[in-house]
Amino acid sequence: MIPRLYPSVDIADLCSSLEGAQKQGGDEPAINFERKFAEAIGAQRCLALTSGRTALRLAVGLLGLAEGDEALLPSFTCPVVADALISEGITPVPIDLTLPSYQLDMESADRALSPRCKLILPTAYFGLPLNLEPLAEFCQANKLAVLLDSAQGIDLDRWGGEVATLARSVPLLVMGSFNLDKHLPLGGGGFLASFEPHLSAKLEEAGDRLAVHTPQEEAVDLAGMALQMLLLHPRYYKGYLHFDLGRELLAEGKVSLEEAGEICMGLSAGKDMDETCRSVIRLLSTPESGIGTLFRRGLRFLIPSYPSQPSAVHLPRRMGQAKAEFGLPALEKLPEFNSFRRRNGSIIHNALGELSPVDPSKVWLPPLPEEGAPLLRYPLVMADRAQAVSLSQRLSRTGFEAGAFNYPQPLHRIPTYRKFLRVAGKLPVCEKISEGMVNLPLWPGMSPEQLGEMTEVIFRHLGGGR
Ligand SMILES: Cc1ncc(COP(=O)(O)O)c(C=O)c1O
Repeated sequence: MIPRLYPSVDIADLCSSLEGAQKQGGDEPAINFERKFAEAIGAQRCLALTSGRTALRLAVGLLGLAEGDEALLPSFTCPVVADALISEGITPVPIDLTLPSYQLDMESADRALSPRCKLILPTAYFGLPLNLEPLAEFCQANKLAVLLDSAQGIDLDRWGGEVATLARSVPLLVMGSFNLDKHLPLGGGGFLASFEPHLSAKLEEAGDRLAVHTPQEEAVDLAGMALQMLLLHPRYYKGYLHFDLGRELLAEGKVSLEEAGEICMGLSAGKDMDETCRSVIRLLSTPESGIGTLFRRGLRFLIPSYPSQPSAVHLPRRMGQAKAEFGLPALEKLPEFNSFRRRNGSIIHNALGELSPVDPSKVWLPPLPEEGAPLLRYPLVMADRAQAVSLSQRLSRTGFEAGAFNYPQPLHRIPTYRKFLRVAGKLPVCEKISEGMVNLPLWPGMSPEQLGEMTEVIFRHLGGGR
């Protein structure tokens, strides 16, 4: 089956980094990587950290927020964003989005304001461009700082100018993620970037105080990604598996770093890994959840069982050398991967655009700029939830893992967060997006033929002629 996402990683680079990671004793922070990354995104300064969520935690203090303050954020977002804010004593205030453009609904933001609001988190989705235009005036008028959540949005061609301009008029930091489902997968990690001298100095100082990820932890992250690349490989993949299984297998000692290194070499050499994959999958089975159940649950049913309390987010730490060594060549290859993302996104978009008739009140396609966008996945949203479910199921039966996105419920609908949020009104668009999403895979290794096959299934299902 074609998985919903496959890490865009040069497997040969991963093999050599894994070898190096195990030999390397140092725990210096990843200063060279930080410099190159800042340069690539047009930032003044960047800190590479161990996850996006810890980057968020650090950002809140650097932007001057204190316990008891509030932050406006879209309700359709990753629950760990709320976890990070709550860990700092900040109350998340969910606001709505617009469809099909996935921008903050500024009227909803205006309605949700209170004197305690100090921050707004414009969030990039799926690699679509973010419109920063309405933010300068709104944030200045209401004394809000901006934390741009770009976990899903590393588009090297669009940064720098627009973001740097906004950073001259309001306090602004950008955060992002290097998890394996993102643009620059380093087996986990995150960053914070600044665009003007004041916050750059603060970022520098904060970086000097942080502990560094150990070489052993870095090796586990990289080896976890190699295992995940086996588990997600279209030749062996049968259905929903979450993105942390590789790392978990290593952390639990079920697979050693050496074994993961051999798996990486096998994948790199294009070996038949059937038997190896079967034996790794056997390790995943537990008496309660046989692997059959793990594979069969399917995306529609993946809605995780949220813990009864928001999860505490770790204190931020700085990325170490091993992942930085891997990150440098990966950063050089990012423009190439992004160009495949643009190509694949446009193939789907142009094909679906021919769907006749695309009734804009029933199906929402995202607005793609003419030059395309480096999409992580293609967000098709349907007004009819039952249709979205049946289309997802049909796609899955024909070998394409499609369906809900990673966060299939908006924050305000998750019982865990009820006591911790201030909900200021109805958020119908976030609900529509979550309920009607048919998220389509388009990762760089997918061929135009596969994408064509996938859109054919959609045409047949929606009964469209061409
Ligand atoms: C929009 C958004 N923000 C923040 C994060 C957190 O990133 P990380 O998983 O690296 O902690 C994610 C993770 O998927 C995300 O989707």
